Amino acid sequence: MIFPSEKTIEESYVPDYEKLYAQVKEDPEAFWANIAKELSWFKLWNKVIAWDYPYARWFVGGQTNIVYNALDRYQKTPIADKLAYIWEGQDGTVRKYTYRQLNEEVCRLANGLKSLGLKKGDKVSIYLPRIMEQIIAMLACAKIGLVHSVVFSGFSIEALKNRIIDAEAKTVICADGYPYKDKVIECKKNVDEAIKDLPQVEHVIIAKRAGNQITTNPGRDIWWDELITKQDTICSTEIMEATDPLFILYTSGSTGKPKGVIHSHGGYQVGTYLTLKWVFDIRSDDIWFCTADAGWITGHSYIVYGPLLNGITTFVYESVPDYPDRGKWWSLVEKYKVTKFYTAPTAIRSLMRYGDEWPKKYDLSSLKILGSVGEPINPEAWLWYYKTIGREQCPLIDTWWQTETGMFMLTPLPSSPLKPGSCNKPFFGVEADVVDANGKPVPVDTQGYLVIKTPWPSMLMDVYKNPKKYLETYFENEALNINKNNEASFSNFLYFTGDSAKKDKDGYFWIVGRNDDVIKVSGHRLGSAELESAFVAHPAVAEAAVIGKPHEIKGESIKAFVILKHGQQPTDTLKEELKKQVRTLIGPIATPDEIVFIDKLPKTRSGKIMRRVLKAQELGQPLGDTSTLEQ
Ligand code: PRX
Repeated sequence: MIFPSEKTIEESYVPDYEKLYAQVKEDPEAFWANIAKELSWFKLWNKVIAWDYPYARWFVGGQTNIVYNALDRYQKTPIADKLAYIWEGQDGTVRKYTYRQLNEEVCRLANGLKSLGLKKGDKVSIYLPRIMEQIIAMLACAKIGLVHSVVFSGFSIEALKNRIIDAEAKTVICADGYPYKDKVIECKKNVDEAIKDLPQVEHVIIAKRAGNQITTNPGRDIWWDELITKQDTICSTEIMEATDPLFILYTSGSTGKPKGVIHSHGGYQVGTYLTLKWVFDIRSDDIWFCTADAGWITGHSYIVYGPLLNGITTFVYESVPDYPDRGKWWSLVEKYKVTKFYTAPTAIRSLMRYGDEWPKKYDLSSLKILGSVGEPINPEAWLWYYKTIGREQCPLIDTWWQTETGMFMLTPLPSSPLKPGSCNKPFFGVEADVVDANGKPVPVDTQGYLVIKTPWPSMLMDVYKNPKKYLETYFENEALNINKNNEASFSNFLYFTGDSAKKDKDGYFWIVGRNDDVIKVSGHRLGSAELESAFVAHPAVAEAAVIGKPHEIKGESIKAFVILKHGQQPTDTLKEELKKQVRTLIGPIATPDEIVFIDKLPKTRSGKIMRRVLKAQELGQPLGDTSTLEQ
């Protein structure tokens, strides 16, 4: 156990976790209502929470807009002249935006979007790299009640197309291209391909980044700069119901099709505002560096909304940690005097490999708190991060949460005693447990299903256009014999996270990994079924099964078992072709590490592939219950 200093405890927002946790447990509604009142509302709610199985609705009857709280309310205060963002490009270009300038840019784009005829409730797909326009676009949409659906710029044409179709987006915002190491990624080309047969897309707005040649489609395509040039820097903020959708973000699950997770204006703002503030002990002079991309939930909650709701300065770096050299991130920490740094275990593990000489070249003494997210962090990486980057003086906050939760759920606070590799305990108002298939808590140090037993304000509202999936994934999951027949009342709320975990004698949680065919590659969430469909789309492939295998740097790597169609030859060239196929259909993050050709896959008698058996065989583990296995 690593104990925080007395000074850290005294100075933090919550010096005594246990005491406050117990207090909040008595009356979570009052707790969240008080926090919500720290933000602005056009109209206060009638009900803090309404529970209508399986939906929790927060701040019902309240009216607000997250952008009002992120930008508008500062404009007549000194925060208006404070930096909201410092952005550095891969080529060293620096762009800085005060809260006033950011607000003006957001207003101009919002007016531009209105001039294209977009109306409250319309969906906009944002396919932008890590440039300021990505953040501005999200805020502009939210300001006028449009629902943004950000698609990570590393996703391929097919993945983008499917997300545009599912979200029914009328407009796509993209860039011409962007630098990625020594290449230019031509993302406008991907958009052209993705929407060529989609008349639903009426407009494409193109932000200029790489200056590469693009083809434009007159009447449909418009340059960002041209769209905003004549627009006013004032735009009124749409009054939204607290429960109106703010965004859709697609994430992988156990089926082939990614799910559109919906978050709201009201509850989401309360959750992201408070968790960032207390967990990272946010102060007005902080320089916050979250290394994620706003294409993922971490970026939505903790690059865009959470930091702006707290009125702090966020630093954004366009490129990867080791480009142009392996000390890049550390040089940025020194240059911008970053105080709070939040990244993923994969990055830590790869930077650790490069050796201590890189961080040692730079002055990292501005750092006060370090954070980790996205996958379990192994104790070795934890300790390296804590010692080499944090000088054994920075609390290391391992935050467990999900696209669906919107905010940190299990996490230490700066005042918490730490155990390397554990994500500590639930945040205030959150009850979590580890249970067996009947929903009964398992004994200490025993692996089971991680569940959440209370609703929380930034809980997902639904799966877009698929309430059945919402119900079956998070409440009536087939792995559990509970929550069935709509019997769940408020007192037996049980949200299924899809993770396996253990709880130790001190009540600390240890995440083991996913239990639902989701693979975490470098912290990115990919579905086995999604990957398998990409293989099967190749004309030579009859069937495929994909599993995740432990990997030293990436957390998990992708291994595919492929059955070829009759007459196809299992050659290395075909393996390469299949890898390419998966990259083209999903994106480079999904590149398989290993492909083997086999003749038979383990299946249940009803024909479902038993990936669990493949995985156990691969790892030399016991096969478990194979009674349903077809012999
Ligand atoms: O398996 C857990 C893992 O990431 C999953 C959620 O993935 P995603 O929705 O992409 O969100 C990632 C960023 C919040 C979880 O179900 N996960 C997330 N954080 C941790 C983690 N596993 C272990 N420790 C964490 N701190």
